Amino acid sequence: MSNMQKELFLANRACIKQLKTLDPRVAQFEREWIDSTINKTLTAKVPENLTALRQQLADLVELDRSEVPPSAAYVAEHMTLEEFKILVQEFALDGLTEAQVFYHLMPRLSLAAQMPMLRMMIDEFGSGNLKRSHTTLYIDLLKELEMPVDLEFYIDANSSAGFSFPNMFCWLAMRADDPSYFSGVITYFETVVPFFFECYTAICERLQIKAHAYYSEHVHIDVFHAIEGQRLLKAMDATGDLDTAKAWRGICMGRDITNAAFDAAVDKARRLKHFDKERAVERAI
Ligand SMILES: [Fe+2]
Ligand SMILES: [Fe+2]
Repeated sequence: MSNMQKELFLANRACIKQLKTLDPRVAQFEREWIDSTINKTLTAKVPENLTALRQQLADLVELDRSEVPPSAAYVAEHMTLEEFKILVQEFALDGLTEAQVFYHLMPRLSLAAQMPMLRMMIDEFGSGNLKRSHTTLYIDLLKELEMPVDLEFYIDANSSAGFSFPNMFCWLAMRADDPSYFSGVITYFETVVPFFFECYTAICERLQIKAHAYYSEHVHIDVFHAIEGQRLLKAMDATGDLDTAKAWRGICMGRDITNAAFDAAVDKARRLKHFDKERAVERAI
């Protein structure tokens, strides 16, 4: 599992450079991973229209908001600086490549549906100011924590769950049979980040980390991105391009992969305790 997520990540990087079909073995791994996650998170009720989708999404967000997971509480209240570095390491593959694969989604949307996505992407890329792009904000954090800033280090150091989060977005943007999956996941994700990332802003405050902008910026801007997500769903629905069942399945799948990646990263941090530039490689997970 661990090696296959890494292989899928490397295949995705190659695919971003030059569009091509995945190696059949990697493609099969991805298919089984996505299918099994969708199957295991299936709910009895599947929304049949946009109103029902919005209601089910709102209920799910309320559920998430009402209970702080033990992993997030630990990060906010007890995690040490050395443990935090391991958590930052485990999300660096996403932080260092954030939103770049979204470009692949754009031509699959109607022009009207591209607009809310474009407004989100303008923020992801710092309104065209490299210093404010979310990846630069992550690099600022890595630098303050005296961690490497090259992708290769994290490709070696990350566990399977660390690859799974960016790999999910590659599938959503490049290979899902319908952009409805993406629209569901992005709307869910942007809606929960403002409260989910509070554990990150809390630890930055407690440990007096100055480069907290990656987290504090998301807490602020994702409130607006959640609104853009709703506009994306509406624009797709208006032209008959929204499959609400697929959007919902995407939401449940994306929530599961994100939570599992976060919990695994916190577990790894607590187990290893010390970030070690030389010995951060751990393939046992
Ligand atoms: Fe972002
Ligand atoms: Fe966002």
